[in-house]
Amino acid sequence: MENPFHIQYYQGPETFCDRVDELARLVEAATNQRSIMLHSMRRMGKTGLIHHLQHTLTHKQKYLCIYLDILDTASDSDFVSQFITTCINQLYTDQSNILKKVTTFFGKYRPKFSIDTLTGNPIIELEITTQKDIDLSLAATFKLLNDSKRKIHIAIDEFQQIGTYSETRIDATIRKHLSTSKNIRMLFSGSQRHLLLQLFNDPKKPMYRLVEQMELYEISYDAYSVFIQAMFKRGRKSIDERVIHLILKWTRSHTFYTQYVCNRLYSLSNKKIEESDLLLIQQRILKEMEMNFLSYRNILSPNQYKVLKAIAIESSVQSVLSKEFTTTYNLASSTARQSLKYLVDTELVYERLTEEGSEYFVYDLFLARWLEGRAS
Ligand SMILES: Nc1ncnc2c1ncn2[C@@H]1O[C@H](COP(=O)(O)OP(=O)(O)OP(=O)(O)O)[C@@H](O)[C@H]1O
Ligand SMILES: [Mg+2]
Repeated sequence: MENPFHIQYYQGPETFCDRVDELARLVEAATNQRSIMLHSMRRMGKTGLIHHLQHTLTHKQKYLCIYLDILDTASDSDFVSQFITTCINQLYTDQSNILKKVTTFFGKYRPKFSIDTLTGNPIIELEITTQKDIDLSLAATFKLLNDSKRKIHIAIDEFQQIGTYSETRIDATIRKHLSTSKNIRMLFSGSQRHLLLQLFNDPKKPMYRLVEQMELYEISYDAYSVFIQAMFKRGRKSIDERVIHLILKWTRSHTFYTQYVCNRLYSLSNKKIEESDLLLIQQRILKEMEMNFLSYRNILSPNQYKVLKAIAIESSVQSVLSKEFTTTYNLASSTARQSLKYLVDTELVYERLTEEGSEYFVYDLFLARWLEGRAS
């Protein structure tokens, strides 16, 4: 049986763990005409959840679902090309129809057709450069979507990317079309919190308060442990509850890391997974990534490295400036403050906002465990 712990793509509801409440909330929003912004720490499971949502909307609600990841785009015209290509591909599954529609609606942008060697889908390249072309071609696409009379869900993943385009008008254009389309709901997703919040929470920006916001957290301990147990059982393997407990503690239940450790454990030939197997896998993973981790000592200044390591050892830190912390790790408070700022800005350390203030931990869990292991 194939390894059920996927670490890349969504493979359907059977190997997808929990997210029952989150899915219900997203379905409820989409079917009640509300668009949403979904954000979380990296690798928490946004993309997986979006596919799970669209799978549900397609099969249970007869939606036409469109998904695009815009991480590779660098400008409004890149965005528009990708948006149009994806929409057209989803709207017209019959390829001869695609050619006809594109020539009719986008003929003046000199479309060039090719085939994506990976997916087999047609790629349409359009010469869209001026602001006017961008506006008109997007308007034409939204018109095609509206005219289809189908319920449509569009998810744009890594949406914060538009904040890096120079002088983007994509957000203003989307706002305009979204508020006039009856059948289209959208979901915007990403992980770079400050960029996303700038787009949605700044009163001067077009998308200010346009959509509902939702943060994705860890899957609950109980749900994950039932899932892990069931997946091993499905492959006629067994795993002790205690080992599952140790996995979830080690990975802080962070989705990607949990999937990764379970994937590795599952691929061992043993029928019964013991604590010693987990230890072995943990060591292997950290060893494999060691070269990568060692390079941080060259990239960071000695103080930054010291603060990073101290946070890893403490696991999570409320105040890097507290007397206790600075004394234990022999840091001057001004250095600690500067280093922390750098580490947060470069996403080596994650700052979680809590009611009492902030909590800091090393963002990459494997790096955290590796640093912790070098404490002595
Ligand atoms: N509920 C789930 N059950 C099982 N596997 C999941 C679940 N959610 C996500 N995954 C898997 O975990 C990995 C990380 O999830 P995903 O890529 O969705 O995270 P992300 O938040 O989109 O990350 P990034 O911020 O890097 O884009 C993926 O391989 C995905 O298939
Ligand atoms: Mg993602």
